[in-house]
Amino acid sequence: MEFKKLYILDHPLIQQKMFYLRNKHTSNLNFRAILNEISELMVYEITRNMAVCPREVETPLEKATGYILAKPVTLIPILRAGLGMSDGILRLIPHARVGHLGLYRDKKTLMPVEYYLKFPGDLAKAEIFIIDPMLATAGSAAAAVDCVKKRGGLSITFVCLVAAPEGVRYLQEKHPELPIYTAALDRELNDHKYIMPGLGDAGDRIFGTE
Ligand code: PRP
Ligand code: URA
Repeated sequence: MEFKKLYILDHPLIQQKMFYLRNKHTSNLNFRAILNEISELMVYEITRNMAVCPREVETPLEKATGYILAKPVTLIPILRAGLGMSDGILRLIPHARVGHLGLYRDKKTLMPVEYYLKFPGDLAKAEIFIIDPMLATAGSAAAAVDCVKKRGGLSITFVCLVAAPEGVRYLQEKHPELPIYTAALDRELNDHKYIMPGLGDAGDRIFGTE
C-alpha cells in the first residue's frame, strides 16, 4: 500500500451509503442525512486507538474497574462542508467540544483562504479530529492541520469521505505522522482539481447552493 497512514473504511454499509451520496439525483435533504450517517458509522474506527484510563465504579453488586476516555475530544469541522459531518459524529461523542475553521478554496488559485477561526482552549490536551468530506489537493486539510498545530494541537486525526491520491500524498508529505481516515480513495483529480469520480461540490450539495 502506497499510503502508510491512510485507513479506508469500506464497510459494506458505508459503501452502500456512498453509492447514494455519489448519485447526482440525491436531494440536498438526503445528501445531508446520508453524510451524517456515514460519519456516525466511521466513529467506531476513527476512535479505536484513543487512550482510556481506569476508574473505580460501584455496580449494584460490587466495586469494579471501568474505563473512561483519557483525553477530551475536540472536533474541528472545516467550514462549510465539514459541518455536514459533525452531527453524525456528535451522536456518538456528545461531550466533544467543537472548534470551527472557515476555509474556502479560491476559485482561481485553488489555495485555501481562512475566514473564520474559533477553537476551544487547551488543544494540547485534546484528541482532535479535523473533519471535511473532501480531500482533493489537500491544500485546505494541510492548512487546517498547520493551524491546529500552531495553536498547540498535538494528537490530530484527519477524517474525510472521499480522498484523491494526489491529496493523500501531499498531506502525508506535509504531516507524515497524521492518520487519515476516508470512506473512499478515488481515482484522481480533474483539471479543475475536483475529485473523480467524487461526488461533486460537497458544500453546495449539503447546503443547496450552486
Ligand atoms: C471544499 C471541501 C474542502 C476543499 C477540498 O471546500 O469541503 O474544504 O474544498 O479541496 P482541497 O483539498 O483542494 O483544498 P470549498 O473550498 O468548496 O468550500 P465550502 O466548503 O465552503 O464549499
Ligand atoms: N471540493 C469539493 O467539494 N469537491 C471536490 O471534488 C473537490 C473539492
